[in-house]
Amino acid sequence: MAANPLLTMTNIEKSFNGVPVLKNVSLNVERGEIHALLGENGAGKSTLMNILGGVHQPNKGTIHMNGIDVKMANPRVSQDNGISFIHQELNVVPDLKVYENMFLGSELRNKLGFLKVEDMCNHSNEILAKLGVKVNPKEYVRNLDTSYKQLIEISKALLHNSKLIIMDEPTTSLAEHEVERLFELMKNLKKSGVSIIYISHKLKEIKKICDRYTVLRDGELVGTGRIENESLETITKLMVGKTISEERFIQGHSFGPILLEVKNLSDGLFKNIHFTVRKGEIVGFTGLAGDGRTELFESLFGYRKKYTGEIKIKNQVVKVDHPRKALKAGIGLVPKDRKENAIIKDLSVIHNLSLSSIGNFEKTGFIQEKIEKEKFEFYKQKLNIKVHNPSITIDKLSGGNQQKVIIAKWLEVNTEIIIFDNPTQGIDVGAKREIYQHIVELAEQGKGVIILSSEAPEILKICHNIHVMYQGEITARFKGEAATEDKIMSYATGSKREAEKIG
Ligand SMILES: Nc1ncnc2c1ncn2[C@@H]1O[C@H](COP(=O)(O)OP(=O)(O)OP(=O)(O)O)[C@@H](O)[C@H]1O
Ligand SMILES: [Mg+2]
Repeated sequence: MAANPLLTMTNIEKSFNGVPVLKNVSLNVERGEIHALLGENGAGKSTLMNILGGVHQPNKGTIHMNGIDVKMANPRVSQDNGISFIHQELNVVPDLKVYENMFLGSELRNKLGFLKVEDMCNHSNEILAKLGVKVNPKEYVRNLDTSYKQLIEISKALLHNSKLIIMDEPTTSLAEHEVERLFELMKNLKKSGVSIIYISHKLKEIKKICDRYTVLRDGELVGTGRIENESLETITKLMVGKTISEERFIQGHSFGPILLEVKNLSDGLFKNIHFTVRKGEIVGFTGLAGDGRTELFESLFGYRKKYTGEIKIKNQVVKVDHPRKALKAGIGLVPKDRKENAIIKDLSVIHNLSLSSIGNFEKTGFIQEKIEKEKFEFYKQKLNIKVHNPSITIDKLSGGNQQKVIIAKWLEVNTEIIIFDNPTQGIDVGAKREIYQHIVELAEQGKGVIILSSEAPEILKICHNIHVMYQGEITARFKGEAATEDKIMSYATGSKREAEKIG
């Protein structure tokens, strides 16, 4: 370790309402390194960073920057010490423009106190260009796609010429090419001596971009070292306390009759889509960002109405033009963006779970409360949701645990056909397996399951049949056991086009 690291956090302790979340944790970050902060959902990564960022105060412990003891009394003090923070949950204000978001709290003004709008726009443009983002700085953020919001959040952190940048899962909503740009930028920052603390559950990213790592488990420090000295398996084992195998989850096929049949579906963003889903079958759709798969399934769930072609459920043609109709016809959709579409922040964990299934147990008063509690306990066990008190608001849960509540909520809706869009976003490697296991059980119970994911390894693990999309079309179909990551990629990137038949 360097004799004089940029940052030293020593013996940090933190409890919320008497529940210890960080126990005697220490972290060292050197100048010009990318340091991975790893651990399962709820391990305490974001909490440690919130302490460094002045959002929370530790119960014990010290923070030194450049060898000097600092108290991060609030976010401003942290910023004044050269720290920028890209939060796990998007922090942009939808009703402000792009440049207003970027300069929020540090607006440029002339001598008379007037805002220097053009200067701020130009400066915003320069930084956004470094990330390869083409967006008008005067555009309202509410009109932009989630990936842009994440990029604005990143750009905002780059504005301050910080010495240390905290990136808490910065790539969850980014497309592959955007991730590549971010990595280039991180390498350049590193060259200029900036340090980065990088949190991600995508371990391949960690291997690619990080120099050293620190692993937390249940709020304790369990390991730290150089990335190049460790295999991904060792790091995973440190995180979850056991070895995680990489095998396929499903064997053997015995499907029932066709539940869903889609014929010749088109709407501008996808075209001539044909496929079927049988009872007991798990069907995967994968491709790169912008391949049309999300829009295709938004049409099946009634969010997009202007499609042509035919949707048949159990041999009946249905016109799905509203989510309520989709639910009635037996289709459920777990949306891909928890931050924007799925949670209601001010509501308790337990009410977020019961929200969409109210029709399932339409009882009143305390009977309903009792049923809700039982249901919650069931999913808490099943998906290993870490929460001490389900009556707290959902935004107090760690990101990955919020995602598990969303999945539980949709499992509770219990439709015959269930679509999961990007189900394991922000979920740790161990908990992913619990979710896969549950998905396989759903199929075994006779449901038709559809998985949308940009992660080919995930699709390979749990799908009986796989469809690859490119620019709105299905360009390849594979049986799960016949597919490989390479084959999928060659169709997903458009380098091969003719559709292969499912054998
Ligand atoms: N404001 C808060 N009030 C109560 N509990 C909290 C609060 N913030 C965090 N916690 C709890 O602290 C624990 C650690 O959460 P944290 O967000 O640090 O986990 P994490 O390692 O970032 O997980 P993830 O990978 O899911 O984001 C969790 O059990 C969480 O519920
Ligand atoms: Mg977190």
